[in-house]
Amino acid sequence: INATKPKHFITTADYTAEQLFDLVDRSIQFKVESKYNYPKARTERPLDGKTVGLLFSKRSTRTRVATETAVGYLGGNAMFLGGQDIQLGVNESLLDTTRVVSSMVDGIMARVGGHHEIETLAKESAVPVVNALSDKYHPTQILADLMTLHEVYHNKKNNVPAGVYSAHTQHPRETLKGLKVAWVGDANNILQEILVAFPKCGISVSAACPPGYTCDQDVIDIAQADAKKTGATVFFTTSPEEAIKDCDVIVTDTWVSMGQEEEKKKRLTEFAGYQVTNDLAARGGAKSDWIFMHCLPRKSEEVDDEVFYSERSVVFPEAENRKWTILAVFDALLVRGGI
Ligand code: CP
Ligand code: NVA
Repeated sequence: INATKPKHFITTADYTAEQLFDLVDRSIQFKVESKYNYPKARTERPLDGKTVGLLFSKRSTRTRVATETAVGYLGGNAMFLGGQDIQLGVNESLLDTTRVVSSMVDGIMARVGGHHEIETLAKESAVPVVNALSDKYHPTQILADLMTLHEVYHNKKNNVPAGVYSAHTQHPRETLKGLKVAWVGDANNILQEILVAFPKCGISVSAACPPGYTCDQDVIDIAQADAKKTGATVFFTTSPEEAIKDCDVIVTDTWVSMGQEEEKKKRLTEFAGYQVTNDLAARGGAKSDWIFMHCLPRKSEEVDDEVFYSERSVVFPEAENRKWTILAVFDALLVRGGI
């Protein structure tokens, strides 16, 4: 019996652009196979008899539904272990919980508070661990964002008629390079995951955050080193207009992440002027066909209804793509033996 160390998915920073493109490519194969039975409907159930534990210390709609349906699709059993239901944090440490849970399941999807918690989990777990959100990173979200960008720009670049799905006919490395993404909002886990994923895929990032809201230095260092290699640019400013100039995509997220509820009043004041609107995009000089992305859940402070529910907004396909990308991650880790 050979007990090898399990492979994890803690941040996209740990993987190359080609590995991320391949995950997106396989996510798209899962999508066409499931939604369009192309090339044929799936009959294999490779996770038959296996269980994935969902260790969530915070609320979730998308990540939970995506993971439970993805594991079910592969024939496995998803077991939701919410913070209110298990001993973790009240009667038992994370270390002990990890050792116990990982001795009985085949994979763990974990939503934690501090990033050090997911690192402890990964270190102690006997089975693969996927980061379902920490205060530093959100890798499965940004994988879904890469997939969504691929779909949108595949369609735009190839003039694909509405109602036709053909994103599976092109590789993401051909569609994503050269895009310019503007972030307007908090320097949070979503922006940080964007910074460690997009520049290495050849996507430029310009981020506007209010004074005093900055990303971790190690994240900035990774983004700048990756950008240097691919020719992408990484730029930080406090001016939303400056960040938006010539961008293809505007992305934002809540101004008050889970766990920051006590800072709400202060944040709402300090983020004044950062709401994404058509007016802001026009003032800043975004490209005329700019699109809008948001990981959800959304509050109207950070983006108004006019943008959020417009034709430019791809937030609902982006949410659906959480399922296909999480499917590809579990398929890679639990079926194929690695990413
Ligand atoms: N985007 C995202 O992670 O949503 P949930 O918090 O609903 O899982
Ligand atoms: N930044 C948000 C993302 C939620 C998916 C949070 O951490 O609450």
